[in-house]
Amino acid sequence: MILDGKKIAEEIKADIAARVDAIVAAGHRPPHLVAVLVGHDGGSESYVMSKAAACERCGFRSTVMRLDESITQRDLLDKILALNSADDVDGFIVQLPLPAHLNEREVLEAIDPRKDVDGFHPVNVGRLTLGLPCFKPATPLGITMLLERAGIDTRGKHCVILGRSNIVGKPLAIMLLQKGRPGDCTVTVCHSATPDVAAEARRADILVAAMGRPGSVTADMVKPGAVVIDVGTTRVPDATRERGWRLRGDVDFDNVAPLCSHITPVPGGVGPMTIAALMYNTLQAYSV
Ligand code: GUN
Repeated sequence: MILDGKKIAEEIKADIAARVDAIVAAGHRPPHLVAVLVGHDGGSESYVMSKAAACERCGFRSTVMRLDESITQRDLLDKILALNSADDVDGFIVQLPLPAHLNEREVLEAIDPRKDVDGFHPVNVGRLTLGLPCFKPATPLGITMLLERAGIDTRGKHCVILGRSNIVGKPLAIMLLQKGRPGDCTVTVCHSATPDVAAEARRADILVAAMGRPGSVTADMVKPGAVVIDVGTTRVPDATRERGWRLRGDVDFDNVAPLCSHITPVPGGVGPMTIAALMYNTLQAYSV
């Protein structure tokens, strides 16, 4: 069964839009999300444009702050401090990756945790780890929303996550480990130093592929009946497309899909759910 992230994301955005309509009808301003984009990375440009389109769908105001590739660390930090104190900005994100001369960690730590709708600030990461209310990173939040809406109970399941990044693998592991629903999983996180990734993966009731290596999860790595979540979005050359590329997931979809109980497609799975989760966080930022 295909987990239709595009459809479920659309349902979530429709729910948010209805709430925003009521807010605006009551005489209040709509929520406002700002996306900071430094330079011209192709992937980042298209992510930011999708986020802006989702804001429009939800009735939010959105602003894309485009900054020159050559901006200094000091000038970028000043922009962030200004967004922190702007009363008409509820939440903002700094699209990653940043150009190499900028210090990403210092930039993320400058964001006011109350406006950190990406959930990347150490205060939000710490609160997530402790199970306290916080902004949860959009990709793991989108994945748990997808599981929930698809009626997939996580309690007691063995979840194996391939990839330990700060924006997907690590926070998802924490969320699925947490007491409650979604949560109550036994979690294994695999990474580049894991001796036998295939053997670990085969034990998964829920397998999450987030390494960024296209097609690398093959049928022999999947237990029959498993739920497979594909976070990969690598651009691979495709001469049949006008733009010359297509998105490819980390899972060898054609051979893995017949084995699974549920699987997410790429595109149309986790990607749209990530954006819906960011919209959810932005409405939260507005409400508190
Ligand atoms: N780059 C890749 N994913 C993300 C994300 O979720 N947020 C931001 N800000 N940058 C990203």
